[in-house]
Amino acid sequence: TKPLAGRDFLTLGDFTKEEIHYLLQLAEQLKAKRKNGEEEALLKGKTLGMIFEKASTRTRVSFEAGIYQLGGNGIFLSTKDLQIGRGESIADTAKVLSGYLDGIMIRTFSQEMVEQLAENASIPVINGLTDLYHPCQVLADLLTIKEQKGALKGINVTYIGDGNNMANSIMVGAGLMGINLTICTPNGYFPKEVEVENAKKLTASSGGSINFEQEPEMAVTDADIIYTDVWASMGQEEEQKKRIEAFHQHQVTPKLLSLAKPDASFMHCLPAHRGEEVAAEVIDGTQSIVFQQAENRLHAQKALMAAIMG
Ligand code: CP
Ligand code: NVA
Repeated sequence: TKPLAGRDFLTLGDFTKEEIHYLLQLAEQLKAKRKNGEEEALLKGKTLGMIFEKASTRTRVSFEAGIYQLGGNGIFLSTKDLQIGRGESIADTAKVLSGYLDGIMIRTFSQEMVEQLAENASIPVINGLTDLYHPCQVLADLLTIKEQKGALKGINVTYIGDGNNMANSIMVGAGLMGINLTICTPNGYFPKEVEVENAKKLTASSGGSINFEQEPEMAVTDADIIYTDVWASMGQEEEQKKRIEAFHQHQVTPKLLSLAKPDASFMHCLPAHRGEEVAAEVIDGTQSIVFQQAENRLHAQKALMAAIMG
């Protein structure tokens, strides 16, 4: 686990394809060991600080349980309680926390804040979701796709929904790992051009592709995976009504799923809204792998922490 020691994880693009493959292998090993009751204390005595400016179920609990399972400790830090909430700078906070901790995970709004934290911290910083990216989720999703389909390269993934943090990180993951990604969003909700261009550049060395398709029924043709996410992300609560109107033709319905490959899987980072982005029959049906995804957050992040904090 030496080569990644000390590194930050602010976006999937911070790592190479080879490094991601290595993390996925480590995650598979850690998962198998946990199932066999043979866990090793790879981070004995280490402490992870976990800063949250937004709500969380999976990220908080999987990081906290994960560091504990590796022999370390997690400290939950709400920005409401930290002095950040009263105006202490990110830079000062980063320098102070670096004296106590062995790693910091942060969930916040702006990617710039995470970058500033990482620049000023002498310990690894992990992005636990910003408005721009959600790399830990996609690391776990890559593990899930590999388990489910036996490969990453050449797998057809269709993302239907908002061009948000999930779409951006899935684009980076696809570009890095050679996945054929089709994105289908309503007009006006495309991912930012710069994110698309950067992800497309990555496909040159992986053989993957990133395409856009307007019609949901066309977008899912030949899909191995259909992926969706909420229509209104955290921080967009006041746009909820407007977004339901804009997105209502982009629900993943049983009909849409039937147009993908017969063995296609349904994925969602959760939390989900049944009857909005996905029909209950789909997310609760036999092709859904959403809880395997959620569990894999634990294993993937344990591999990440062991590699960068070890
Ligand atoms: N998928 C995900 O990050 O879930 P939480 O918001 O519950 O952490
Ligand atoms: N796009 C969602 C993902 C939640 C895990 C959000 O940012 O709220």
